[in-house]
Amino acid sequence: MLHSKLPNVGTTIFTRMSQLAAEVGALNLSQGFPDFDGPQALRDAVCRHIAAGHNQYAPMTGLPALREQVAAKIARCYGSSVSAEHEITITPGATQAIFCAIQALIQPGDEVVVFDPSYDSYEPSVELAGGRCVHVPLSQPAFAIDWQRLSDALSPRTRLIILNSPHNPSGALISRADLDRLAELIRQRDIYLISDEVYEHLVFDGAQHDSVLSHEELYQRAFVVSSFGKSYHVTGWKTGYVVAPPALSAELRKVHQYVSFCGVTPVQWGLADFMAEHPEHVSELPGFYQAKRDLFCDLLAGSKFRFTRAAGTFFQLVDYSLIRPDLDDVAMAEWLTREHGVAAIPVSVFYQQAPKDLRLVRFCFAKREETLGQAAEKLCAI
Ligand SMILES: Cc1ncc(COP(=O)(O)O)c(C=O)c1O
Repeated sequence: MLHSKLPNVGTTIFTRMSQLAAEVGALNLSQGFPDFDGPQALRDAVCRHIAAGHNQYAPMTGLPALREQVAAKIARCYGSSVSAEHEITITPGATQAIFCAIQALIQPGDEVVVFDPSYDSYEPSVELAGGRCVHVPLSQPAFAIDWQRLSDALSPRTRLIILNSPHNPSGALISRADLDRLAELIRQRDIYLISDEVYEHLVFDGAQHDSVLSHEELYQRAFVVSSFGKSYHVTGWKTGYVVAPPALSAELRKVHQYVSFCGVTPVQWGLADFMAEHPEHVSELPGFYQAKRDLFCDLLAGSKFRFTRAAGTFFQLVDYSLIRPDLDDVAMAEWLTREHGVAAIPVSVFYQQAPKDLRLVRFCFAKREETLGQAAEKLCAI
C-alpha cells in the first residue's frame, strides 16, 4: 500500500471552481489570472528569442541579464542594493521558490507560523519537509496581524514565519510599523522569514508596498519571493524569483538545482528585454489595477453584497450575509456559479479553522472591463 505523504490534500478549490465555471458556462472570477494578455512587446520578445535559438537550458540561477534587471528594479522601487549574482535566483514560478525555500530551511519537527487565511501551497510544502504549520488567524475585519497571538504561537521549535503582503485573499497590506514590530519580536530568536510579495506592484489609493527588501534587519533572515506572472499578466509562464542574502540564496539554490534546475530560457530572455525597455510597466500597475477594482466596486455598489475596497492584489472580498446567510461560503460559491453564472472562491478554504460565521467570497478583478461589467450585472440582479 502506498502511504500518502499528503493524506489531507485533494484537488484544490481553484481547480474545482475553474472546472465548475467551464462546465456551467459561468464567468470565471474565481482563480487568480487575467482574462487579457500580457504586453505585446513582451510576447514578441519571447517569440524573437525562440526564433533566435535561445531554447536550451538557462544558467541554474537564472539568466544574468534578467537577474540584473530584477536588481535594477529593486533599487528603483525599494532603494536597496542586492547582488544579481549572489542574491537573486530565477525560478519556475513563485510557488516553486516558496517550496525550495521551505525545503532548504525546515527540518523534521520544526514549526512554521502561517497567518490564516493563507495561500494554499505553504502547508503541504512544510509537511513534505517534515515540519508542522502553526496557524495564527489574522484579526478581523482588517486582516491585520494579532501580535499577542503571534507571540503566543512562537516556541523554541519555530524556525520560520511566512508573511504575505499584499495579502491573498484579503488585499490587506503589512506596514513598515508591522515589520519593525516583527523584527523586535524575533530579534533574539533563530527564526527565518519567507515574505511572499507576488502582488508587490498591486497596491492602491496612493499607498506604498513596504517590502522586506527595504527592511535591512529583517532582510538578513529572509527569502523575498515575487512572480513575473502577476506583474506582467502572464501567469501561465510560471516564472518568478527569490531574493535572499548570499548564504540563504546558496542553500535555496542547492534545492532549486534538483527540483527544476532552471527556469524557461526564452521567457527569461523576453522578460529581460522587456524590463530594460519598459521600466515604467511596473509603476503603471497600481493605476491599471485600481481602475479595474474601482469599476468592479462601483458597479457592485448597487448589489446586496457588502465590501471594503481591497487595498492591494487583484482580489475583492465581498460579504454576502444580506443575500444567503443560510449558506456557508463553499455552498455560496457553488450557488453563485451554478445559479447566477459567476464563479468565486470561498474564503474558508484559506483557513485551517475558519470562523463559523464567515460569509465571505473572493472575486478576481484581473478581467477585461467587459467581463467585469457582465459579472456585476449578474451579481446586482441577485
Ligand atoms: C499569495 C500567492 N503566492 C504565490 C502565488 C504563486 O505564484 P506563481 O504563479 O508565480 O507560482 C500566488 C498565485 O496565486 C499567490 O496568490
